[in-house]
Amino acid sequence: MKTILIVGGAGYIGSHMVKMLMRSGYHVVTLDNLATGYRDAVSGGDFVFGDTADKLGLDSLFSGYTIDGVMHFASFIQVGESVQHPSKYYQNNVAATLNLLDAMVAHHIPALIFSSSAAIFGEPAYTPIDEQHPKQPINPYGLSKWMIEQILADYDQAYGLKSVCLRYFNAAGADPEGQLGERHEPETHLIPLVLQAASGRRQAITVFGQDYDTPDGTCIRDYIHINDLCQAHLLALEYLFQGGNSTAYNLGNGSGFSVTEVIEVAKQVTHKPIEVVMGERRMGDPARLVADSKQIQTQLGWQPQYADLATIVAHAWQWETRT
Ligand code: UFG
Repeated sequence: MKTILIVGGAGYIGSHMVKMLMRSGYHVVTLDNLATGYRDAVSGGDFVFGDTADKLGLDSLFSGYTIDGVMHFASFIQVGESVQHPSKYYQNNVAATLNLLDAMVAHHIPALIFSSSAAIFGEPAYTPIDEQHPKQPINPYGLSKWMIEQILADYDQAYGLKSVCLRYFNAAGADPEGQLGERHEPETHLIPLVLQAASGRRQAITVFGQDYDTPDGTCIRDYIHINDLCQAHLLALEYLFQGGNSTAYNLGNGSGFSVTEVIEVAKQVTHKPIEVVMGERRMGDPARLVADSKQIQTQLGWQPQYADLATIVAHAWQWETRT
């Protein structure tokens, strides 16, 4: 049985990944500092409380376990905060990630799946965005992800560390079985906020800008179900285990929905009224982000199982209304 280290396994995406890997017959070790994650979200395997900033801790973890592959989910993700506190983002998302890469090299662990982001592309020159699209991040968050992608190319060349970078568009939804979901604090993502407005946990949803160059004036995003995202990680891991070369894939459904459309779908799914407040634009939001994910489909055979936005919202609603 192969052992996979999930860095950030107590977070939103990491916790879904832990569950899927265990179902697929892997032994899982989670490393998490619980800064934003939850211990009770880690549904099995071993749990190590620790931080990628701690080089000695990483060394003892890799000495104590025979790790076959690593998935790295432990980064800060708020674009606005990254503009105000770039140090926090470069320290964690870049410097601490380097500690992890160096520990992997020192312990001869050759396979890494890295969580990258659509934010590496900046303001899109065209959509849908394919892998070749120019990388011109417009904030420290996006730049931190692009820096690691470039560092990984050098680490492969020099040290033979193989990696797959997965550039997520908008991860959304929740465990179809209702066990796991999104628990960001503070929550900044559209779908959970809309559903909080539907459940009454929040009074209203504020739409950030109605004057974008889109059919209804609100921003268009490509929402991808968390389980489809995790499935892509599993395929990428198996690809590396079979001797695949380092690569990067864009990961989305390939269809875009505006903020207004998301709210409409949420009304249909929840059968609840949702109070909508029209607000100002949020800094740094591109009008349209839609992925071209043909490459991962043709090369790894990835197929989204929950591409329908209503299903994504329904699973998030099941989580929002859990008792
Ligand atoms: N939005 C609102 N009101 C809200 C929250 C969001 O109108 O209260 C809008 C945003 O302006 C955006 C859309 O809903 O147009 C989606 O916003 P999210 O914050 O849910 O997602 P983003 O597209 O901004 O962010 C996603 C990831 C981030 C990542 C970013 C760039 O969730 O982690 O893409 O790749 F940094």
